[in-house]
Amino acid sequence: MGNCWGAQVKAESSSHSVFASVHIIFGCIGANSRYSKRDGKLSGSSSRVSAASVPPTPRSEGEILQASNVKSFTFNELKNATRNFRPDSVLGEGGFGSVFKGWIDEHSLAATKPGTGIVIAVKKLNQEGFQGHREWLTEVNYLGQLSHPNLVKLIGYCLEDEQRLLVYEFMPRGSLENHLFRRGSYFQPLSWNLRMKVALGAAKGLAFLHSDKAKVIYRDFKTSNVLLDSNYNAKLSDFGLAKDGPTGDKSHVSTRVMGTFGYAAPEYLATGHLTAKSDVYSFGVVLLEMLSGRRAVDKNRPAGEHNLVEWARPYLSNKKKIFRILDTRLGGQYSLGGAQKAAALALQCLSIDSKYRLNMDEVVSALEQLQDAKDTGRNPHTERKGSSQNVGSNLHRYRRRSLEEAGSRKGAHARSSASPLYA
Ligand SMILES: Nc1ncnc2c1ncn2[C@@H]1O[C@H](COP(=O)(O)OP(=O)(O)OP(=O)(O)O)[C@@H](O)[C@H]1O
Ligand SMILES: [Mg+2]
Repeated sequence: MGNCWGAQVKAESSSHSVFASVHIIFGCIGANSRYSKRDGKLSGSSSRVSAASVPPTPRSEGEILQASNVKSFTFNELKNATRNFRPDSVLGEGGFGSVFKGWIDEHSLAATKPGTGIVIAVKKLNQEGFQGHREWLTEVNYLGQLSHPNLVKLIGYCLEDEQRLLVYEFMPRGSLENHLFRRGSYFQPLSWNLRMKVALGAAKGLAFLHSDKAKVIYRDFKTSNVLLDSNYNAKLSDFGLAKDGPTGDKSHVSTRVMGTFGYAAPEYLATGHLTAKSDVYSFGVVLLEMLSGRRAVDKNRPAGEHNLVEWARPYLSNKKKIFRILDTRLGGQYSLGGAQKAAALALQCLSIDSKYRLNMDEVVSALEQLQDAKDTGRNPHTERKGSSQNVGSNLHRYRRRSLEEAGSRKGAHARSSASPLYA
């Protein structure tokens, strides 16, 4: 790594027709960077792949779109569904564009008047070339085939001239990020029990992806990609960075280092070797964000506290000190035992050596036990008054991109403010 800046690199594959034509300017991606192929060929089946079947891996853009089994919308249809992408229907903004609220008919999927039919979320990509297109296509590839209660449902897409859009089921409670870090009347601090419920739902989503049925590495697990339905069931969104897991006797997939600062596993950052355990590390970061109410990276905090994992690690491993990292807004909602178990779980997921990390099935079991225990008795250590220092104020989130691009592009983006659109 290191001396490849500015080199034109054939992204991901030279032999894979999906991405064969995609060339992007990037930093070094590692000598053996390639797209990991899975043997399965695109099946002609029109039924949506369920949690009980293996998703075929399509090869070409045409095949992906044909196989996705979701609706192909025209740009005009989505324009009508979102009232011409009205600024006041923006649900949120990410590094690749804005997400708008819209309405369609449940059966015909045609645009309807606001307030009638079903609500959708329409992600409109900024027109920024091949990188955006590739992630758009990857998302259609995976979400168009995988179906699970803890994955957000892709309803359709639009590919018209330069326009790239994705249409999802609307998630009424928005992202976990909003609930953890945003102030405002709608986004109240999540209770301990809800945090544990959300953690379990998200863990189940990852466990499904890692299972033999799907064999997918998600690669972008973070609070903004965990969306919540009206009952706080968590669903993973944003599959633009997902990869097929290693096949045969391979232990990892070699790839560019992509993701979001603060969430990527150390060995992946160092080597570009991606495994399901990279997702487990990211899960540990998110669990820690949920326990602490702090962002993974927060430059507004005092020196020594910018990186959540580095700051919290010594406290996580000391049963008597974990209260120092727990979100004061939780008050006395948790028991000593429950908090210690959750902290121990986060610590295990965050093991520097990936072989000591649990797998996601084990994480699910541990979280289920925590739920079953329901030992939420009050703890005197947590009776302290809430402190505003735990209310996330940092807007320095980095857009999703090659981490090797750091410093060469705009590094932060402001979030839109809390929105009544979720009500
Ligand atoms: N299906 C949905 N239902 C409701 N709100 C959504 C939906 N999808 C996205 N959002 C909202 O839009 C925001 C932006 O989503 P998007 O995936 O574009 O970016 P992000 O995840 O915040 O950041 P990044 O680009 O780094 O992944 C989310 O944080 C969420 O609040
Ligand atoms: Mg997202």
